[in-house]
Amino acid sequence: MTGPGFDLERVRGDFPLLRQEVRGRPLVYLDSAATGQKPQAVLDALTRYYTHDNANVHRGVHILSERSTQAYEDARETVRRFLNAKDAREIVFVRGTTEAINLVAATYGRKQVGPGDEVLISAMEHHSNIVPWQMVCDAAGAKLRVIPVDDRGELKMDAVDALLTERTRLLAITHVSNALGSINPIKELVAKAHAKNIPVLVDGAQSVTHFQVDVQELDCDFFAFSGHKLFGPTGIGVLYGKLAMLEAMPPYQGGGDMILSVTMEKTVYNRVPHRFEAGTPDMAGAVGLAAAIRYLEGVGLSAIAQHDQWLLAYATQALSAVPGLKLVGTAPKKTGVLSFTLEDVHPHDVGTILDQEGICIRTGHHCAQPLMQRFGVAATVRASLALYNTPQDVDALVKGLLKVREVFA
Ligand SMILES: Cc1ncc(COP(=O)(O)O)c(C=O)c1O
Repeated sequence: MTGPGFDLERVRGDFPLLRQEVRGRPLVYLDSAATGQKPQAVLDALTRYYTHDNANVHRGVHILSERSTQAYEDARETVRRFLNAKDAREIVFVRGTTEAINLVAATYGRKQVGPGDEVLISAMEHHSNIVPWQMVCDAAGAKLRVIPVDDRGELKMDAVDALLTERTRLLAITHVSNALGSINPIKELVAKAHAKNIPVLVDGAQSVTHFQVDVQELDCDFFAFSGHKLFGPTGIGVLYGKLAMLEAMPPYQGGGDMILSVTMEKTVYNRVPHRFEAGTPDMAGAVGLAAAIRYLEGVGLSAIAQHDQWLLAYATQALSAVPGLKLVGTAPKKTGVLSFTLEDVHPHDVGTILDQEGICIRTGHHCAQPLMQRFGVAATVRASLALYNTPQDVDALVKGLLKVREVFA
């Protein structure tokens, strides 16, 4: 029912947090776009690392430091393989998508964006891919330009060519909208931008969790994602950058590990990627993230993608039975995100009543206030699906929403 080789019951059983009751009811977790739950394999990897291998990396000559460094660099290789990057040096560990984008803004952005230049984003960006570019543009006297979105939540592709000008220094765009679920045609956008020698940063926070990403195939220059959304630990994330791009960039933060030598007069910076990893990194986080990736690969990335599409179709159909429910974001190509409003009921009230039923969904602007303005709403209710969600989760949501309707009748 959910694709070959996908044993949903077994997969669900791999996530211990889901086996609980809340408010006297079985937990229904439909907030994975905010953060993903962690499989036992990730919890075990973290425990194993702290129990056996913990030591600082790249510094000690002792056995534990050797093991810890090996585990950290192995994790980098696992991420390289996951994204199909050419070289492990193209993988920089950061805290998350937000830090990855800020890193590019503070290095590439500060260096390349000057007065009168432009940075191009889209109307469906998360604040993490808006504010850093506003800051760069404000500091440089540059202009932020925006690709519009149509009523279904698709990018207006016919507007793109005119927005990519000789002043555009970067296109920074989300792969998948966290608030709508829309999947953007990144390959096509990259081809358009590259035809004008404009590099492209892709915010992959919501794509890697739903389908396989190949950065060489996309040909993007930067790609960012967060470990915690990919069912790994909090505090770890990834910036992929093409080697030539990273090598041309100045350092981000100063400190230990990002240097080759320091005198009071001068510092010689370390090679890529360590140049961008100042201070003690999140070794345990990297190990946990690698475990999450191995877990997902074990389940099967294409089976996960198939399950997502199947459950999205089921949920879209099921929600159509709720009177007054209006989906926000109906692009033909989307991931398992269902954003909606319920006539006459404030999203916050919907969330509060669903919570009483043990159902976790998100309400609010989803860190995408300009997008909410575009759709003329202050907030939506958002249910987001992951590999461990079942049709029963969706049925519980529908039942909960019918209860909301009763309360507000
Ligand atoms: C599309 C998108 N970009 C960026 C972020 C920021 O991710 P983080 O808070 O993990 O840095 C999120 C998180 O919700 C997101 O959905």
